[in-house]
Amino acid sequence: MLSDKVTKLSWVYQLYRLGQTTQLRDQPEKVQQAILLHIVEGFGADSGTLAIACGDDGDPYLSIVAGIDIPDHVIGSRVELGRGILGWVAQEGQALLLNGDVSSDLRFKSSAPRNESVRPRSAMCWPLKIENRVIGALSINRRDADEPYTEADLENGAVVVSLITVVIENTRLHLDQGKQIALLSKMNDEIRTVNKRLEDAQNQLLQSEKMASIGQLAAGVAHEINNPVGYINSNFGSLQKYLGNVFEVLDAYEKNEPLLADHPDALQQIRGLKKKYDLAYLREDVAELMSETEEGIARVKKIVQDLKDFSHVDQAEWQWANIHKGLDSTINIVWNELKYKAEVIKVYGELPEVECLASQLNQVFMNLLINAAHAIEDRGIIFIRTGTLDDQVWVEIADSGKGIPPENLNRIFEPFFTTKPVGKGTGLGLSLSYSIVQKHHGRINVSSEVGVGTIFRVYLPVRQPERKS
Ligand SMILES: Nc1ncnc2c1ncn2[C@@H]1O[C@H](COP(=O)(O)OP(=O)(O)OP(=O)(O)O)[C@@H](O)[C@H]1O
Ligand SMILES: [Mg+2]
Repeated sequence: MLSDKVTKLSWVYQLYRLGQTTQLRDQPEKVQQAILLHIVEGFGADSGTLAIACGDDGDPYLSIVAGIDIPDHVIGSRVELGRGILGWVAQEGQALLLNGDVSSDLRFKSSAPRNESVRPRSAMCWPLKIENRVIGALSINRRDADEPYTEADLENGAVVVSLITVVIENTRLHLDQGKQIALLSKMNDEIRTVNKRLEDAQNQLLQSEKMASIGQLAAGVAHEINNPVGYINSNFGSLQKYLGNVFEVLDAYEKNEPLLADHPDALQQIRGLKKKYDLAYLREDVAELMSETEEGIARVKKIVQDLKDFSHVDQAEWQWANIHKGLDSTINIVWNELKYKAEVIKVYGELPEVECLASQLNQVFMNLLINAAHAIEDRGIIFIRTGTLDDQVWVEIADSGKGIPPENLNRIFEPFFTTKPVGKGTGLGLSLSYSIVQKHHGRINVSSEVGVGTIFRVYLPVRQPERKS
């Protein structure tokens, strides 16, 4: 006899509600277990097992997803089609009533799953079928031989089982949907990560290609300019000396002018020329022109030097160096540029010595510090912080300056990109720094907000991946 619970609408409704629960996505096993418990109670059984069809067409099998009063380890175990009672029912697509000891039944003898070794006195097992498709199997058992299930129970139960099938299919669909959504979102994440990596790699490639070709260009330009600048510089030195001599001779002539009193024509001619060419002004202006020219030549020499440094970043000694020492000496060198602009705050962490081209790293720090000072219009703060991250050290130079507009952010490392007035910046500082840091297998990060300030952070590996000669 079936318990009359199952014939009650409230029981059926509860079963239906279990299949609708929102827990389904997060804890499907709990829901399946609750459904099975509801069925076991409804059918007045002592134990029960719920298995779901899994695998593809080539390898279909059942997986036990819930069990009442069966050993824990059985949950999750695999049941081959045709094997054991559940397997047999699922394969045949037929419900089964078993009374008495079934261990001698040839259909199930070979390989009954462990959970059925309890050998119930009375059991019913149904395939869960939607149209002709078996989506699982359900068995319930009674240990009590006094009240065995009957054929009528099996038939009546089949009606309820068809409802259970819908509920179970609903859970499965939900699960599949959940899994698919999770899978899609995982795939999406992966695609996004791969895309980001590709983008980074492409940017890096572009940047290093640009650097390589600019490096060649810079080396060529430096070489071409170096020669004429060399002789302009040395000729200028001679010219300055000769002009000094000429003025010395002129001075002597001027001093002796009164001696020409007896030669009024000659004296008039000389005075006429002096007036015509405004000798006094000429003397003054020549000195100014010379000093401006000297400054111009020095500037060109500096640019050529920068270009040389930029293209020949490998002409230095690799050594183990103390980054803080390098920072401090660089701060000293540029102190004149910094002191009127900013309060310099140092927050140094504990750093190991770093394998590096120390003098070149100092150039990087110098460029960053001077840029920071230039960015501050009146007075501000420059923060210098250091620290470690895994097997890298980092140096951060932050300023409270005017910031970098977003449209310039990806251009600042380009050679010759500058927003400074002519004569103040060549636009080589950051590109040079970039190539030096790259040579160290490090990276430079920048973040900036207009009107707030800019943070440059240089990451350097403590040890170089392969020693440079
Ligand atoms: N800390 C900073 N704050 C605001 N803008 C900055 C900062 N650092 C760099 N920049 C911007 O990036 C540009 C390029 O910097 P970079 O150091 O390469 O050249 P530069 O300073 O203009 O000239 P150079 O360093 O060759 O004398 C600067 O002109 C400026 O616009
Ligand atoms: Mg600069």
